[in-house]
Amino acid sequence: PKNLTGRNFLKLLDFTPAEIEYLLDLSRDLKRKKRAGIMGRQLEGTNIALLFEKPSTRTRCSFAVAASDEGASTEFLGKNDIQLGKKETVADTARVLGRYFDGIQFRGFEHESVEILGSEAGVPVWNGLTDKFHPTQVLADLMTLRENFGRLRDLKLVFAGDGRNNMANSLMVGSALMGVDYAITSPEELWPDDELVEECREIAEGSGAEISIGDEPAEDVTGADAIYTDVWISMGEEARMRERIELLSPYQVDREMLEQTENDDIIFLHCLPAYHNTDTEIGQKVYEEYGLEEMEVTDEVFESRHARVFDQAENRMHTIKAVMVATMT
Ligand code: CP
Ligand code: NVA
Repeated sequence: PKNLTGRNFLKLLDFTPAEIEYLLDLSRDLKRKKRAGIMGRQLEGTNIALLFEKPSTRTRCSFAVAASDEGASTEFLGKNDIQLGKKETVADTARVLGRYFDGIQFRGFEHESVEILGSEAGVPVWNGLTDKFHPTQVLADLMTLRENFGRLRDLKLVFAGDGRNNMANSLMVGSALMGVDYAITSPEELWPDDELVEECREIAEGSGAEISIGDEPAEDVTGADAIYTDVWISMGEEARMRERIELLSPYQVDREMLEQTENDDIIFLHCLPAYHNTDTEIGQKVYEEYGLEEMEVTDEVFESRHARVFDQAENRMHTIKAVMVATMT
């Protein structure tokens, strides 16, 4: 087994394919155990801080439940609860929290914040999403792909939509490491940073993955095993609604796009939350202002036999548990 004790989990770029495979194997084992009603007590007596500058359903609950399953206590600290970066520096906060807690989860805006926490806290720090990366989500996505196809190598994963958000970035890194061919289909304005693409292409030389970026969805999706999308407006970008709708409407995942893959067993992935109908406040507002009933994915696809979105959501918990167990014990 790989020794990940004491390590941070800040971005997938910090890990080797063997380490990620180890985390995926551990996630699979912990999932089986939970299903069989066997709970480990591997984190007994430890305390975990959950720092959130942005809202969350899946990540927060996954950390809380995973910690409880393994016997740890959690403390939730929301954006109005602590001074992070406002009155107290991130580095000072990190050094204080590290004196109380055995592990720290951070979700926020600047990726730099989680890097500072990670270097100053003296205990494992886990990135629960920043503007740049969402690595625990990608672990759950890789786990879901592996459950579906029995392997990762040589699969083709297409990401349609905002090609430079945290999900598009992290999926590119995860795919490059694990040998998954990865294609982004997105308007050129939203293509990922050249530097990150270059870095991923170098990593991909080791795994045999191909990384491609295009703006022709009908062609880009051919031969896909899985199509992934995410919201067009990430947390913190709310003012860009009009611009994103104009840019991204041609990249909506609909039945036609699934058909263009020419793969009847294509699966559909989404990290959630998703705008696939008008049953939310924002969904309603988008309908009133722009006449759109669906955004990044149609309701038809979201509710279809192709979707694996709730398996992904469940796998967040198992993979987060694996990350905590691997880094804390
Ligand atoms: N996918 C995901 O991270 O969901 P939350 O924002 O609800 O945590
Ligand atoms: N790109 C989205 C992911 C949400 C899990 C966001 O950052 O809001």
